[in-house]
Amino acid sequence: MPTPAHILDALNAQVGMEFAASLKYDSIASYFASESLPRLAAFYSTQATEERAHAHRFMKFILDVGGRVKIPAIDASPWDFGSAEAAAKLALESEEAVTASINHLYDLATAAKDHATSNMLQWFITEQVEEIAVADQLLRIIQRAGEDGLLLVEDYIAQKAIGEKPAA
Ligand SMILES: [Fe+2]
Ligand SMILES: [Fe+2]
Repeated sequence: MPTPAHILDALNAQVGMEFAASLKYDSIASYFASESLPRLAAFYSTQATEERAHAHRFMKFILDVGGRVKIPAIDASPWDFGSAEAAAKLALESEEAVTASINHLYDLATAAKDHATSNMLQWFITEQVEEIAVADQLLRIIQRAGEDGLLLVEDYIAQKAIGEKPAA
């Protein structure tokens, strides 16, 4: 069964959302770099790279099922963060929005009995659990340390206590 047009449209929209998430993480990483917090910058920069890989994963699937890749316009990212907390909050809100979008895509695919798309999305559903957990954890640690205690957060990240994913 060919992938329905409305599913291909939604998949292309998701490509845009993953690129938008990548730009947000690059923007957050740049904020921390400008604050001379290199480990926070590196952490969010790695997240930016991951989001780009997610976009590519959706693009490959669209091509594999015979669709056309149509990358939409990407909104400008927020950049003028007043605090580390505000920057970390954007990351969590972005992950929550991506999770809602992937869940909606999954609902569309199951309603259309599009098993190939449903099955592909399982990986993302699992991934989003981890992404939200990590974003939430880092926000809480930043809140606990406070804006004057961000060097503690740098130490925390250096000890690889966060963002470590279990071996796949
Ligand atoms: Fe993603
Ligand atoms: Fe993510």
